Amino acid sequence: MLTTESTKIAFNVAWARAQFPSLAQSVNGHPAAFLDGPGGTQVSQRVIDAIRDYLVQSNANTEGAYATSRRTDAMIAGARSAMADLLGCDADEVVFGPNMTTLTFALSRSIGRELGQGDEIVVTHLDHDANVSTWRALEERGVKLQFVDVNEQDCTLDMGDMARKINGRTKLVAVGYASNAVGTINDVKEVIRLAHAAGAMAFVDAVHYAPHGPIAVRELDCDFLACSTYKFFGPHMGVLYGKREHLKRLQPYKVRALTNDIPFRWEMGTLNHECIAGITACVEYLADLGRHVNPEAGSRRAALLSAYEAIQSYERRLIERLIRGLVEIPRLKFFGISDPKRFSQRAPTVAVRIEGHTPLELANRLGERGFFTWDGNYYALNLTERLDVEKSGGFLRIGLVHYNTVEEIDGVVAALKEIVG
Ligand SMILES: Cc1ncc(COP(=O)(O)O)c(C=O)c1O
Repeated sequence: MLTTESTKIAFNVAWARAQFPSLAQSVNGHPAAFLDGPGGTQVSQRVIDAIRDYLVQSNANTEGAYATSRRTDAMIAGARSAMADLLGCDADEVVFGPNMTTLTFALSRSIGRELGQGDEIVVTHLDHDANVSTWRALEERGVKLQFVDVNEQDCTLDMGDMARKINGRTKLVAVGYASNAVGTINDVKEVIRLAHAAGAMAFVDAVHYAPHGPIAVRELDCDFLACSTYKFFGPHMGVLYGKREHLKRLQPYKVRALTNDIPFRWEMGTLNHECIAGITACVEYLADLGRHVNPEAGSRRAALLSAYEAIQSYERRLIERLIRGLVEIPRLKFFGISDPKRFSQRAPTVAVRIEGHTPLELANRLGERGFFTWDGNYYALNLTERLDVEKSGGFLRIGLVHYNTVEEIDGVVAALKEIVG
């Protein structure tokens, strides 16, 4: 049994793994090791059951005068309050949509209605393109984009450059909570403070952070924050938090028949109800994990915070072991924070290159052995271009979540050593 040391009650990874039926798969006789969490995580049995049960018992459109439709309305309200507990906000500030990218394009289009020539938006080289191209779309209105640079040696944001790029013309700062490419966790609280001091709004892309750390939108004081439930053990859906005042004031592009009440005015057309049913189940899975490590956790929010404490402590052990193993590999170049003393500033997501092998070749050969990793830019295109690795295949990414094990880490390091000789 693998446990964490810092939590009051041990985090039992075997308990967690038993909840995820897909983890039992194998490839060419090798157990499958899902080291592809940053691309999407597996779902627990209760998520599968919730989706199935919704389709059997409640499948209907919303706001009808009959039982299944009423059950659908209640189910969506339940999912909204589950996400409000996860994000630390009220349920009417939670907007559902197909994914983060679509929600962010809808938001940028709406914010863009108020912007024009002379206005600026600050984005970063560290970000996923869904938090760059969505704002770049407003260049057609005359809005200017300012790019914040990265420190090449450790792939952190250049906060001096951030402070310089934010000015009186800045209307919005769009920043990632954590990098899906190199794992850096950004000081988003400071970025939000800088944005507000200049009179700008702050948008946080928390897609990569959400499986790894607790989110508290009120404490952060961000204006918007987006995440995707399929990255934290739920179905393929996106979620947007917006401060109530903004969700009310801004004008979304919407059909006339749709209510003007928040958050519904931001939800275009019929949503994926079965996946929304799965969202409650995924939040409940995390809360249950929290209750396992801390049976005294009272509210669901308290249980979620306990879960993240246990997850962070466990993932910390995994990432230390993975990075220690990787940096021993000859001709391997490591991108991002590698000093264990600074591991609280990184998620358990690493990017490497190994001389003489393309990332695609490495991912293919690992895949044959049952290790699911990723290669290329995974849409962190602004970073692969900035670090000049885009033309040569980007990075090999190994991304851990709390259902990964020490054995999987030792296995992937040994497999890489064998492949590169
Ligand atoms: C950091 C980050 N932001 C945004 C996205 C886009 O999310 P979605 O697929 O929900 O549009 C991803 C997806 O990989 C991501 O990793």
